Parts: sequence; structure tokens; C-alpha cells
Amino acid sequence: MGCQSRAAATLPASPSTRERIARAFARSAHSYDQHADLQRAVADQLLALLPPQFAGAHVLDLGCGTGYCTRQLRALLPASVVLALDLAEPMLQRARAIPSVLPLCADAQQLPLQTASIDLLLSSLTIQWCDDLNALFAELQRVLRNDGVALLSTLGPQSLCELRAAWTGIDRRMHSNRFTPLATIEQAASANGFTLNWTRELRTRHYESLRKLAHELKGLGANAVLEQQASTVSPASFRAAEAAFASNREAAGIPVQWEVFYLQLRRQA
Ligand SMILES: C[S@@+](CC[C@H](N)C(=O)[O-])C[C@H]1O[C@@H](n2cnc3c(N)ncnc32)[C@H](O)[C@@H]1O
Repeated sequence: MGCQSRAAATLPASPSTRERIARAFARSAHSYDQHADLQRAVADQLLALLPPQFAGAHVLDLGCGTGYCTRQLRALLPASVVLALDLAEPMLQRARAIPSVLPLCADAQQLPLQTASIDLLLSSLTIQWCDDLNALFAELQRVLRNDGVALLSTLGPQSLCELRAAWTGIDRRMHSNRFTPLATIEQAASANGFTLNWTRELRTRHYESLRKLAHELKGLGANAVLEQQASTVSPASFRAAEAAFASNREAAGIPVQWEVFYLQLRRQA
């Protein structure tokens, strides 16, 4: 289906936006794992990009959530110090249970880490929540050692386009975040001294209804919309959006696209 995407604007860094994101993920810490099939699959793809025979001393899982990647890093790299960082303390609580991991509750855009202290940074489906990509990449550049590498997965603009399309013409609220185009990511990476290698993947998942998709997003904590405060949707508006969403139904259910970028950042020589 041809969903149009508008270019994501650079949003002002507002503490209230980060607080709302942190609160949404904090509320979902107990339900995240039961909704996280796509997140697991993406994390596995990202972990497969780990450099062979990597022997770096310090590894960071940025936006560790409930610790799925942290656990794999801990097992795969027994000689490394593994740090797990997340904005939402209740998410981090889960990662705290993993033995021999250093937990940090902090914002990815203001890392409480020393300059040139990290050999490998891995971050799965987190950077799309950062409202200032330049600040984020500047921080990654600062904390990575010269030969360090950052492996990131993030969502592309086509993700959830069916959700946005279903709400078009019903109200003027944002019902999904707009995801940053690859060209903007490439620009920010280069401006901050990185060379970027990337791959793109389009996954389609089928849902029974708009309500089920909304339930999944809420269970994941991914229901915070960056550009607005939450407000109530009228039942009539929801019914209209539900009908528009269901008009794409296929035998397997109602298709929703998830565009995933896998990024490999290395400091420019
Ligand atoms: C979709 S979850 C992914 C979690 C984990 N990486 C995984 O693959 O299951 C996104 C995580 O990023 C965290 N997060 C969002 N914005 C962040 C920020 N600015 N700094 C650090 N963590 C952030 C959220 O609290 C949440 O735990």
C-alpha cells in the first residue's frame, strides 16, 4: 500500500517530551515482553551484526528496556564489562536482575559516561525516541573509542503508515510518531564524524483490529506521541478510524508495515 510520509521535523528538546516517553515506558515495563515479538526479531538481526571475535573491554546497551539485548551481550562477551542504560527506571529494574551488568538510568542524549570509554554500543529500537538526533550522535561520537562501533536499529518513515492513513481526515491529532528518513540519519551521522553502513527491512504484521494494534503499542510503551500531549479520542472518531483501518483487511488480518533500518556507525578516520 502506498503510504505517504512527511519528513520528520527536528523537535525541540523538551524535558516534558522525555518525561512523557519515560512515563509511557515505565508503565509498560510489566507488559513489554509479552508484546515484543517484533522487537525480539529486530534485536536478533542487530546482534547478528556484532563484529566477529570482538574483544572490547566496555559494551553499552543503549535503551536496554527489559534487557533482552543486554542478556545476549552478557552471554556472548563474557570478558567485557556490560553497561545497560535506559530512561525509564522500571524498565531498567528488569535489566538490573541480569548478573554482572552495570545499570544506568539516563538519557541517551546526555550520557553519564566518560569520553572515549566505550568499545561497542548497541541500541535496538530506541533512537527513534530521541528528539535530537544530532545531540545523540554527538554523544555517541564522544563516548566511543577511536576504533569503536555503534550498531543501531531504528524505525523508518513507512512504519505504521496504515495507522496514520486510517486517521486521516478524522481528526488533526497525531496518532503515530513520524520516523526519521534515512537521508536525515545519514546527514546527522556524517555531520558528527561517522561513516554509516545501513540495511533496510520491511516487515508486515497483521492485526485483528485497530484496537488490537493500539493495545500492542500501549503494552510496549510505544503509545507516547512525541509531538503532543495525550488527549482523549471520541468513540465516534475511533469507530471511523477502525472502519478505515479495517478496509485493508486480508485473509491473515489487517496489514501494518514496520520499516526497520540497521545502522553501523564507525568514527571517521
Ligand atoms: C522499544 S524499547 C526497546 C528496548 C530494548 N532495546 C529491546 O530491544 O527490547 C525502547 C526503550 O528505549 C528507552 N528510551 C526511550 N528514550 C530514551 C532515551 N532518550 N534515552 C534512553 N533510553 C530511552 C525506553 O525507556 C525503552 O525502554
